[in-house]
Amino acid sequence: MTPAAPAETLRAALAGLLAGLPPKQAAQAVERLIANYRGRTPTDAPVLRDRSDVAAYAAYRMPATFEAVRSALAAFAEAVPEGWEPSSHVDVGGGTGAATWAVSATWESARPVTVLDWAEPALALGRELAAANPLLSEVLWQRSRIGAALSIPSADLVTVSYVLGELTAADRGSVVAEAARAGQAVVIVEPGTPEGYARVLQARDQLIAAGLRIAAPCPHDAGCPIVPGQDWCHFSARVSRSSLHRQVKGGSLPYEDEKFSYVAATQGEVSPVQARVVRKPQIRKGQVLLDLCTREPGLTRDTVTKRHGPLYRAARDAEWGDGWSRTD
Ligand SMILES: C[S@@+](CC[C@H](N)C(=O)[O-])C[C@H]1O[C@@H](n2cnc3c(N)ncnc32)[C@H](O)[C@@H]1O
Repeated sequence: MTPAAPAETLRAALAGLLAGLPPKQAAQAVERLIANYRGRTPTDAPVLRDRSDVAAYAAYRMPATFEAVRSALAAFAEAVPEGWEPSSHVDVGGGTGAATWAVSATWESARPVTVLDWAEPALALGRELAAANPLLSEVLWQRSRIGAALSIPSADLVTVSYVLGELTAADRGSVVAEAARAGQAVVIVEPGTPEGYARVLQARDQLIAAGLRIAAPCPHDAGCPIVPGQDWCHFSARVSRSSLHRQVKGGSLPYEDEKFSYVAATQGEVSPVQARVVRKPQIRKGQVLLDLCTREPGLTRDTVTKRHGPLYRAARDAEWGDGWSRTD
């Protein structure tokens, strides 16, 4: 497969899913789902109750969560020794398998995967979609409830993607502790909102306390320099919009930007970036302004001008979320 192929395979599988559903019905299912997610607090019962909920979730949200996880995994892959790849993966609260697809798009070989989720319809649909991807032939779709009794099988990589926000504080603590125990590496992704960032920050503290080292996005394991309540650490992944997106959200843009927060940590060797671009770079005439998280306390802004030569050209190419090497 070429690097672009998994996203296209997923898109085609999702389009096939909606083929039998009248567009109006699909749009209504998505609207119901959005209303359900909006303003809800963690409950004792799955939100994804039946096939139409799950098909709506998959068609509407999976391309975005897939791209967010893929970005987080790319940053993680840059921080671990070259050639490292997970020989096993567990996706906790994996639902229809977006993170499972993202892992197989990042390290393109087949591996044993276990997807844990309490919503049987989500697991069933995930299994159906994965049939389109030959790299996902070894996936076990297993019903499991996140809570104090959760037991995650040991694996090289544990992902927890867009799940913490659906849990009580106690269950969030349990799942992160169990992921830190079971995973050689742990990657947690949340929506790029102040609340999502706060959950990521808490998980980061817990992973460090459990003895893992931060691989990304942070250049260090020290406290986060961002002042809670004033700002939040988040990034952006570009997602092509499907016709369903355009129908529900209106507008004609062919893409949208998914904002996400994440933390990736490992028990193994790690070389985090020296600095990371934490805002969209501002390109001015003859200069680029880069807002950076570095190994020094606080965030800093580097101004790279034309007289910096190759560094200036690199700064013009730098994107929000990229690693950056400072020269001074
Ligand atoms: C927003 S979806 C994210 C799905 C997938 N990880 C992704 O990134 O697209 C949240 C998932 O967490 C699952 N979930 C929520 N609470 C759970 C719990 N207590 N036990 C197991 N799964 C849970 C839901 O069923 C759902 O599949």
